[in-house]
Amino acid sequence: MERIFVTRKIPESGLALLHPHFEIDVWEDPLPPPRQTLIARGQGCAGLLTLLSDTIDSSVLDALPSVRAIANFAVGYNNIDIQAATQRKIAIGNTPDVLTDATADIAVGLLIAVARLFPQSADQVRRLQWKTWEPLGLLGQDLSGGKTLGIVGMGRIGQAVAKRCYGGWNMRVLYTSRTERPQVDRDLQATRVSFERLLEQSDFISIHTDLNPSTRHLFHRETLRRMKPNAVLVNTSRGGVIDQNALAEALEQKWIFGAGLDVTDPEPLPDDSALRRYDNCLILPHIGSATFEARSAMSQMAARNLLAALQGQPMPYAVNPIQ
Ligand code: GLV
Repeated sequence: MERIFVTRKIPESGLALLHPHFEIDVWEDPLPPPRQTLIARGQGCAGLLTLLSDTIDSSVLDALPSVRAIANFAVGYNNIDIQAATQRKIAIGNTPDVLTDATADIAVGLLIAVARLFPQSADQVRRLQWKTWEPLGLLGQDLSGGKTLGIVGMGRIGQAVAKRCYGGWNMRVLYTSRTERPQVDRDLQATRVSFERLLEQSDFISIHTDLNPSTRHLFHRETLRRMKPNAVLVNTSRGGVIDQNALAEALEQKWIFGAGLDVTDPEPLPDDSALRRYDNCLILPHIGSATFEARSAMSQMAARNLLAALQGQPMPYAVNPIQ
């Protein structure tokens, strides 16, 4: 039987699909296996099932010549050097679609929480500072009333967020996207605009682009300064899209109203990160896809990707073309 290495405990439903076909080695620790351990445990394996916190670069691939397929347990795959994998004819798969709604819910949850001061309000109760009902206390932003939503990256998750905000609060939807999205324009009365226009006109901005050299620190000092002072910035994609020092300055100087982050750079957020100081910055520990349903579906999808590739078939959710 061929062997596969699974770099963390994942829902059983996916492992059950693999058990009849492979000898499975699971890394039981919640923290990622150190690089040398990953290489040691992956020796002789036909496939790997990896997480976004496992760095799979060309030197790891070179150290694991038996590996023919890698199923990433995530929709994003910036942890893997795809070009290096393709050159070595290693098939890479991801887990799109099944986490779209769960992640969109977290984005909208962050948006509401920051706009309506959930962290500050909950803090007041916890610290026994809730004295009375205050007409001028804890005032946030309405989501209704003709607000404008800016979506950066109108892919699956971006569309799901736009749909919620258009359907729920009748927001005007602006977006940036590499490609035209006529269906989205029609269904959500959305408008594809320049990044500058999106920054200047949006009351809420939600980031859904992947992390690549052109999106790294897309939100920096100058772009953050172009946002409206009442604006809320939400990021559920990858932390590296925002320059966190610049965001701390934006929060300090009140260039924007607040930020909701489900992702940071690095993860976890370092203890001394300035972002921890601001009560209008709500940070979650990367829980976008953390529902029973989504994680179980991701587990099965990753398993099916691995199974297909190792049986000589195309992965159902392939990231790179392998002949
Ligand atoms: C999570 O961030 C994912 O890419 O699935």
